[in-house]
Amino acid sequence: MKTLLPEPYKIKMIEPIRLVPAVERKARLKEAGWNTFLLNSRDVYIDLLTDSGTNAMSDMQWAALMVGDEAYAGSRSFERLEAAIRDVYGFKHVVPTHQGRGAEHLLSKSWIKPGQYVAGNMYFTTTRAHIELAGGIFEDVIVDEAHDPRAEAPFKGNVDLGKLERFLDRVGPQKVAYVAIGCPVNMAGGQPVSLENMTATAALCRRRGVRVVMDGARAVENAAMIRAREAAWKGRPVAEILKEMCRQVDAMAVSAKKDAYVNIGGFLATDDDGLCESAQNLCVLFEGLHTYGGLAGRDLEALAVGVREMVQDEWIEHRLAQVAYLGERLDAEGVPVVKPFGGHAVFVDARAFLPHLESDDLPAQALAAWIYEACGVRAMERGVVSAGRDDRGRNRRPSLELVRLTLPRRVYTQTHLDYVAREIGALHRRRAELPGLRFVKEPKHLRFFQARFEPVPARVGAA
Ligand code: F0G
Repeated sequence: MKTLLPEPYKIKMIEPIRLVPAVERKARLKEAGWNTFLLNSRDVYIDLLTDSGTNAMSDMQWAALMVGDEAYAGSRSFERLEAAIRDVYGFKHVVPTHQGRGAEHLLSKSWIKPGQYVAGNMYFTTTRAHIELAGGIFEDVIVDEAHDPRAEAPFKGNVDLGKLERFLDRVGPQKVAYVAIGCPVNMAGGQPVSLENMTATAALCRRRGVRVVMDGARAVENAAMIRAREAAWKGRPVAEILKEMCRQVDAMAVSAKKDAYVNIGGFLATDDDGLCESAQNLCVLFEGLHTYGGLAGRDLEALAVGVREMVQDEWIEHRLAQVAYLGERLDAEGVPVVKPFGGHAVFVDARAFLPHLESDDLPAQALAAWIYEACGVRAMERGVVSAGRDDRGRNRRPSLELVRLTLPRRVYTQTHLDYVAREIGALHRRRAELPGLRFVKEPKHLRFFQARFEPVPARVGAA
């Protein structure tokens, strides 16, 4: 196992955390309906629910808060953000939003006509929800190996060009609002897309007159994985790779709560004047004036600084190394994990961890619950619960049934990761005794956030 280089920062301010006793964890889990989203943070020891908005800001970002211009219109903070995004991503227009789904909303409403399709490399929960709210239909065109947690290909997030071409032939390009490339693919285990694949996808779409959009929530992580894995780009600066990725697409929706080390924010960026005008206009309705998009001036400032920090190679290198370190430690404990490791999280294969459970026992939801009960670590389900129901009300059955251990940026140290790996390893050794869960409350939209569950007794004949 590789040793992890020391964190490229020292700690200036701390926030205490506490491991609540086992009996209390059991009680808190029950109160939360066995859904880790419904646990209180104060009852969580190490919080690996998400890397979204949970980052630690730098001293420079905290300093920038003080110069936030809180003017309602035309704030200087917006000018600084716009300049940073133009420099780093290369797009002409920037429309800020309160977070990523705000940008998805503006994009979907602007470019999708009811009945049109959006093809993409696997769904993401909020993205698909906004496509569907705008009357669109999502079509998955990711490569097959993305669905196999044990396939070790370097770019499991790639678009399958054959699938995309056949899809365009079948429905006709005029029925396709755009092709959406997620870089990397969150639901597939944070797997990246190669630049070669992005370029080929964009070329195919241009030939057919179809627009291309990037979900750039973790585009910097994707760029760093290109740098590590794609021969033509080996060792190139992440900043240069990111710009090249952006050059391939017509627009980008970004949740800034990931790469950019902030706690809130998002934006839509494009060179397309028409999209900019439509998004700015919708922004007034749903987010706020187009120079603040639901954010305070100080949030815009922190983001402007974070956008420049995120492309510094030493930060992103350390992040990828931290994720790989946790993955390797879990692997050494015998815990089944998705490989290769992605950029934001280690994904545990819940079906392989709990082979005695059926899909209806919600293995990943159950495993996330039992991890919390065992050691106070909070993780997230990414399986049948997250996938929701189709338009006929049937449960969608994704091929992947995963638990995500997501690393907030610059928050936890190697000792925290060692604890997580050791404890989940110990849980794995007593896996046969862990039961599944079933729904007792199922909300209509994005059900995984607010659903409640209860344990199911072991099925007769189960291991
Ligand atoms: N796209 C991707 C790939 C995401 O991972 C997220 C959020 C969004 C869009 C939406 O952004 O939350 O700022 O509105 N992912 C979070 C997560 C929720 O935990 O993976 P948002």
